[in-house]
Amino acid sequence: MIQGIGCDILSIDRVRNIIETTPAFLKRCFSEREISEYHKRGDIAYLASRFAAKEAIVKALSKYEHDLNSIEILNDNDGKPYVVINRVKSNIFVSISYETEYVIAYAVLSSIL
Ligand SMILES: CC(C)(COP(=O)(O)OP(=O)(O)OC[C@H]1O[C@@H](n2cnc3c(N)ncnc32)[C@H](O)[C@@H]1OP(=O)(O)O)[C@@H](O)C(=O)NCCC(=O)NCCS
Repeated sequence: MIQGIGCDILSIDRVRNIIETTPAFLKRCFSEREISEYHKRGDIAYLASRFAAKEAIVKALSKYEHDLNSIEILNDNDGKPYVVINRVKSNIFVSISYETEYVIAYAVLSSIL
């Protein structure tokens, strides 16, 4: 059963500006695994998509209970994203897409994993 949904769209440039002006944003909002993946990909759009996914998750949960860096958006071997909260795989499903200037993410909170 679906218990909540959320979506978020974000300008990649906006995230680039935040990273440049507020370096603390990186550790505040992203886990070590996400930061390491960001360095591997070398693409700010990766961070923007993860931030959008986290915002979508917060909307799906309707109340904000977690630090954003404890919510992780990782990828399985097929590239499909999955959500880990406090190092435990969660029953939240996300979908991410990229365009040149924007990223978009949806989140669905399910009653089953
Ligand atoms: C996976 C696929 C759908 C991604 O689509 P895309 O238009 O290239 O890229 P988008 O910007 O829309 O989406 C990228 C995101 O898709 C998600 N994704 C990748 N593989 C996925 C999978 N197996 N299942 C679900 N989501 C997946 C990821 O979140 C990825 O972003 P991330 O790597 O930062 O996590 C696409 O590459 C694919 O494999 N399509 C299969 C069908 C096909 O080959 N079509 C082409 C002929 S029409």
